[in-house]
Amino acid sequence: MTESDAWVPEGVDITVPNAARIYDYALGGVHNFAVDREFWDNALKVFPTAGLVGRANRAFLGRAVRRLAQQGIRQFLDIGSGIPTVGNVHEMAQGVDPSSKIMYVDIDPIAVEQSRSLLTGNPRARAVRGDLRDPESILFNPAVLDFLDFAEPVAVLTVAVLHFLPDSDDPGSIIKRIGDTLARGSHLVVSHAGPERTPESQAGLKAAIKLYEKTPTPVVMRTRSEIAALVETAFELVPPGVVIANEWHPDPEEDEVPPQPTALVAVGRKP
Ligand SMILES: C[S@@+](CC[C@H](N)C(=O)[O-])C[C@H]1O[C@@H](n2cnc3c(N)ncnc32)[C@H](O)[C@@H]1O
Repeated sequence: MTESDAWVPEGVDITVPNAARIYDYALGGVHNFAVDREFWDNALKVFPTAGLVGRANRAFLGRAVRRLAQQGIRQFLDIGSGIPTVGNVHEMAQGVDPSSKIMYVDIDPIAVEQSRSLLTGNPRARAVRGDLRDPESILFNPAVLDFLDFAEPVAVLTVAVLHFLPDSDDPGSIIKRIGDTLARGSHLVVSHAGPERTPESQAGLKAAIKLYEKTPTPVVMRTRSEIAALVETAFELVPPGVVIANEWHPDPEEDEVPPQPTALVAVGRKP
């Protein structure tokens, strides 16, 4: 891609690395800039398995959505949905039942715009801009209320996004407020950066996390029990609980990604 910025929404600063576009580049997408690519290439130098973490995360997202759709969930609210890439939520959910509805939400205008462009002609999938730190502005956004029926179960996806919320944002209260709005039988899907298992890889992860301090969304790593506590503010953890992505209902048909300890995941159900 040339660095033509004709497609960039007004107000987007393409001189600062951005989580949505870094992740897009990491997964092989084209909606990113030199600054994002340079950031990711530097992250790989200090934490060489970072790309595998992204792939493990994305594979988990696919399995979780398909499984919930197979269990009868027909509404998905994907917060921090990112720039559309391979295996998007609407493709997986509507692959199980074409009547499934998906609302994508992201803080990044490029992610929202690219989602809208991809969803042209799909009346059962939409995208809006929103900030997870202000969950009411998402849950009570008229565009969301018009589209999703909160009297029926909804799967809220917070996949690879909660680690952008420091404790000072009180992510537990955010998850609780989301859970309190949802009907019984709703679900929360989480993936989150967790600790590595060896001192060497943990040092690499910490160095990569340090790089994120240069972005508008620094990363906070949390332990399994901290992630469980976030989910349990309003949901009951469903088996197998908080595990690394590869251990969450692995699909033997899927291309295998080697286990990535830092890719911690969980699914909760509203009782
Ligand atoms: C690493 S990407 C994850 C994309 C997708 N959920 C996945 O796992 O494949 C993180 C996304 O979260 C978004 N994000 C970061 N902070 C956010 C916030 N406070 N509210 C909504 N989205 C946010 C970023 O713009 C980015 O698109």
